Amino acid sequence: MKQSEWEIKWNDSLSVGVTEIDEEHQQFVGRVNDLNQAIVECEDKPVVERLLDLMLMEATHHFWHEQQLLAKWKYPHRAAHAAKHAQLTAQFERVMKEFEQADVSFTWALKGLHIKQLLVDHLLHEDMKYRDFLRKQKHPGRDSGKQSTRKRAPARA
Ligand SMILES: [Fe+2]
Ligand SMILES: [Fe+2]
Repeated sequence: MKQSEWEIKWNDSLSVGVTEIDEEHQQFVGRVNDLNQAIVECEDKPVVERLLDLMLMEATHHFWHEQQLLAKWKYPHRAAHAAKHAQLTAQFERVMKEFEQADVSFTWALKGLHIKQLLVDHLLHEDMKYRDFLRKQKHPGRDSGKQSTRKRAPARA
């Protein structure tokens, strides 16, 4: 298995300091790497589609979970954050349709990468804003040093 130069490595700077969210973000990073690898290795469209479906299904649950916690923590920008999630969800639906309709592998591969990049950007820019909020608050929602017990489910059968 060759190493992709697109591979994302999880590191502590991505941690929001909340174990249950970090676990979901780590799982997402794993999905991104699976998707990148499938595209780099020129896997067939159904393989890439299955990875995208899985990523989007988990993202939908993750958005909901994150919004529950942001409300619990009284994050002042929670409404704007939820609006970003809704905007992303609408974008996914649109781009997934384009993905499904694309026949040329170069075109659908680009659509798949676009969806993935929207999610990566959200993690790097929007989620890091509430991480900074929690840090400043020394918020009780934050924890540290706990080891994750959940293993990432395999993306491929
Ligand atoms: Fe997130
Ligand atoms: Fe988010």
